[in-house]
Amino acid sequence: MAEKAIGIFDSGLGGLTCVRRIEKLLPGQKIVFFGDTGRLPYGGRSKDTIIRYTTQDLNFLKTFDLKLIVAACGTVSTMALDEIKKASGIPLLGVVEPSVKQAVSATKTKRIGVIGTAATISSGAYERHINALMSDAEVFSKACPLFVPLVENGHYRSDDAVVMAIVEEYLSELKANNIDTLILGCTHYPLLRQAIEKFFGPDVTLIDSGAACANEVENVLTKMGISPQEGSEGGCRFFVSDRTGDFASLASIFLGRAVDDSDVGLVDIYSY
Ligand code: DGL
Repeated sequence: MAEKAIGIFDSGLGGLTCVRRIEKLLPGQKIVFFGDTGRLPYGGRSKDTIIRYTTQDLNFLKTFDLKLIVAACGTVSTMALDEIKKASGIPLLGVVEPSVKQAVSATKTKRIGVIGTAATISSGAYERHINALMSDAEVFSKACPLFVPLVENGHYRSDDAVVMAIVEEYLSELKANNIDTLILGCTHYPLLRQAIEKFFGPDVTLIDSGAACANEVENVLTKMGISPQEGSEGGCRFFVSDRTGDFASLASIFLGRAVDDSDVGLVDIYSY
């Protein structure tokens, strides 16, 4: 029987940080990735719009034969996942629970920072999940709306003065609050890891929400007995809703490997 794929989607290309980790953990796993690059960012939009967009993203992915769908997007995971879960018909995972589990086991001082899009932070979802697992944890949250456009436009390096100025502007408050663990609650943010590490120094543990979610994918597939069989051939098919022209150069940064322009397909997402 042909191996079923996993569907992974994001508002843009940040979800590729999750794909990157799955390719490492489960090299035999087929993946279909959709990035809604034509409507990025989701993080400044209303809940209704995010749910409508997410429903179309799922409808597109459901045209493939999938065994699991991953919302590799902090904004979708915090604003739309509960609403769309029932209608999905396919098991659906988000990034919140896996990152919270890692943060709670990493913290020593129980002072945890969370950064994400405006929508993610206003949802309060990370705080709720952290306090459900660790009721005496103190959570300090900060929306960082400029991080996604920075990263999507290729600005992420720690020697980039613009990047470091914005990192300082957003994260000084969290530094003053003496957090020892920081959840990168948006799947674009792992690209800024070096810049954020440079700002905080070595005493703050960074939790990569895309990678944490990939670990959870591996656990769930094992539990459900649907891990890829030995010797099966993996590979990722990529689809976006706009900007196929610069897909390869940006995707290769997120994935840490070469990607070819011909690897990506264009989707008219409004028709789903
Ligand atoms: N990767 C998305 C997230 O994790 C990007 C945010 C956005 O679309 O605003 O939230």
